[in-house]
Amino acid sequence: MADSPKKRAALAALELVEDGMRLGLGTGSTAKFFIEALGEKVRTGLDVKGVPTSRWSEELARKNGIELFEPDETTVLDLDIDGSDEITPDGSMIKGGGGAMLREKIVARAARKFVMIADASKRVHTLGAFPLPVEVIPFGQALTVRAIREVLSEEGFSNPQITLRAAPNGEGFFLTDAGNLVADLALGRIQNPETLDRKLTMIPGVVTTGLFLGFDVHQILATEDGFLDG
Ligand code: A5P
Repeated sequence: MADSPKKRAALAALELVEDGMRLGLGTGSTAKFFIEALGEKVRTGLDVKGVPTSRWSEELARKNGIELFEPDETTVLDLDIDGSDEITPDGSMIKGGGGAMLREKIVARAARKFVMIADASKRVHTLGAFPLPVEVIPFGQALTVRAIREVLSEEGFSNPQITLRAAPNGEGFFLTDAGNLVADLALGRIQNPETLDRKLTMIPGVVTTGLFLGFDVHQILATEDGFLDG
């Protein structure tokens, strides 16, 4: 059976990896293919070290024999390889479908290059059809949600749906690796992502949003039989 687009995107990213590199290891079903394939290369002698973007990717990397390290102030990663929920041709993204956007953003910021691996369905021209995840601290979450609603109204979103993400087992709320909640904002179309991101992250109870803007992104988007843009 032919490899799925997600797997082919992951394998194409593996070709960018060179001996001695320091890597950011993403989170999600596409990153899983990458981490597993990287593990196979490590077993045959590739020397790399990684920083995981979640407890989930940490566990997967360990299981696959990939050496991990704690970044210090001097750390510059050669590549960060991660998935995305939406990406525009200029590389603006929504991430956080798996709730890992905080660590993912910290790691992406430490990398020279962000390699985004996905199937071609993630390509959009305007962000927002995918609900925007916003990480919120538990204390005062109702006040934070109210402040988010005020920002959205200022930005012209009429009556947007804001949902606190439920735990996968349906019991209580989903908690991020940092012990926070995730508010998913159903917005439809985000016309001014920079302004929205700035205003949301200025709210005291908001830790970060799933908007990834201004990164130098190398996009690998696989279709059923090839790649987008080439
Ligand atoms: C994790 O929080 C996300 O940012 C993922 O990277 C994103 O949801 C992509 O996941 P898939 O590769 O599973 O589509």
